[in-house]
Amino acid sequence: MTFNQTSLNRLEISQLRSQRWYAPDTIRAFAHRQRSQQMGFSRDEFMGKPVIGIINTWSDLSPCHSHLRERAEAVKRAVWAAGGFPVELPALSVGEVLVKPTTMLYRNFLAMEAEELLRQHPVDGAVLLGGCDKSTPALLMGAISMDIPVLFCPAGPMSSGKWRGQKTGAGTHTKKYWDQLRTGAITQHDWVELEGAMTRSIGTCNTMGTASTMTSIADAMGFMLPGASSIPAADSRHVQMAALCGKTIVDMVWYDHKPSRWLTRDNFHNGIVAYMALGGSTNAAIHLIAMANRAGITLTLEDMEAVAREVPVLANLFPSGDQLMEEFFFAGGLMAQLKKISHFLKQDAVGVLNTSVSQWISTAECYDDNVIRGLDNPVVPLSQGCALTVLKGNLCPNGAVMKSSAAKPELRQHRGPALVFDTHQALSEQIDRPDLDITADTVLILRNAGPVGAPGMPEWGNLPIPKNLLQQGVTDMVRISDARMSGTHYGTCILHVAPEAAIGGPLALVKTGDIIELDITAGTLNMLVSDEELTARRANLQPTHRVYGRSYAALYQQHVTQANEGCDFDFLQSGSDVPEPPIY
Ligand code: FES
Ligand code: MG
Repeated sequence: MTFNQTSLNRLEISQLRSQRWYAPDTIRAFAHRQRSQQMGFSRDEFMGKPVIGIINTWSDLSPCHSHLRERAEAVKRAVWAAGGFPVELPALSVGEVLVKPTTMLYRNFLAMEAEELLRQHPVDGAVLLGGCDKSTPALLMGAISMDIPVLFCPAGPMSSGKWRGQKTGAGTHTKKYWDQLRTGAITQHDWVELEGAMTRSIGTCNTMGTASTMTSIADAMGFMLPGASSIPAADSRHVQMAALCGKTIVDMVWYDHKPSRWLTRDNFHNGIVAYMALGGSTNAAIHLIAMANRAGITLTLEDMEAVAREVPVLANLFPSGDQLMEEFFFAGGLMAQLKKISHFLKQDAVGVLNTSVSQWISTAECYDDNVIRGLDNPVVPLSQGCALTVLKGNLCPNGAVMKSSAAKPELRQHRGPALVFDTHQALSEQIDRPDLDITADTVLILRNAGPVGAPGMPEWGNLPIPKNLLQQGVTDMVRISDARMSGTHYGTCILHVAPEAAIGGPLALVKTGDIIELDITAGTLNMLVSDEELTARRANLQPTHRVYGRSYAALYQQHVTQANEGCDFDFLQSGSDVPEPPIY
């Protein structure tokens, strides 16, 4: 499918943004032309052409993006062929796993960098290369704010893994086998062998973790070539897709097809429908609110939950199902999944190609009804939960979220005594102590792990089940935190409690032994403690989180919003326009 020029006006060369740098007969523009020639480009290679930025989040410590340098070359060759001038702009690489304390601390950093890279340079449009969890929302947040034509080129999921005949999915099976190691079901030797076997190719996690959740959402919203999010990173069609991004962005620039021309609430709705049907990561709830905010659209947890109550988990992918992204691609990919639920979609919404959702899905076909399912055969029926449940109560007045489809049915209504940890370190040191006073009914609580408290809201919300309970066969417990959880994990984990403990949210007032009451069906989460007692506890409340006096962490703590507000910086949300930089 190619760019649709219908009813759009083509720009004159003089209207290209980059012409402000290159065209004038001034000493400054002389320097711009001179310096571009210094890099070996002759005048006719860059003059009068759309300048295409390629924002590349490659680094040697971003395992899921290790192929993005090569993909940038594919984008470049197509930009040249289409009459553009490609320029690669390296950006912060927020690769999960190796970045500490958490990539979430740096999502806003990358969003700022993407926006400012585009603003400060003579760039008319951009291809965004990313895909690991935070890079997708970060690049899109920055691009929406900058508002020039952009196209997202997803890194693509890694190839399917197998170990000793069993499917292994990144993240999901790490956790599964870690628990088996702790109970002695596998040996240390097995564990070391697994380390080298699980992630066997380039690309992002092959489960429906946050990476595939966010790239699929961006795909359904229209930010990429339709269906691109499902193409495995190692497939030759992935290289072809990257090149097609280069060709397409040149057209988009000539017709000034920027986000404000096409991105509406309907696109967000379609992203949310995809999120729920895929059984996507709870992290998406934060990112979608932040992205919408950048577009001047107010999106709430309740807006998303309303969709979740109608669209069950349909894609048979880990951690909800038992397949991997490569099988999803072979079964027809995202467009085939969307076609099966087309009546939920706003089909007139258009994306980067200026074509509508109904056009994208018209040619899609499903080749495997076990992997890509319809409403008649959901992976999890709505009666057993959905991808996003919002809870409210005296523990979380501004909301908490959970993936109720990943909770044990017996725990949907639960009452139990709290066991509270103030820090992640205390949790790790104590959780496996044999004398810990804990049963399967205990409600594990971790606080000071939110946006301000940690800071950066790490993925600590999948609190480990104590070893002695694992040995008794306990596989799930009610767990509550102001942290996030990896999209590759599962369990009755209540996350994103807002307001968080560090800013005085009621989670800070809970004491070990308090009775906690969860009712997923009613959407409530309460501590059964009287208002008088809570008032008395509040009077003695002392913040226990670390406050940073300098560094990026200090900026972050001072300006980050709460989880239900998107965790963006308050000064980056939509508001007055930022002028183009003066060129003197
Ligand atoms: Fe990068 Fe999972 S660690 S996508
Ligand atoms: Mg992840």
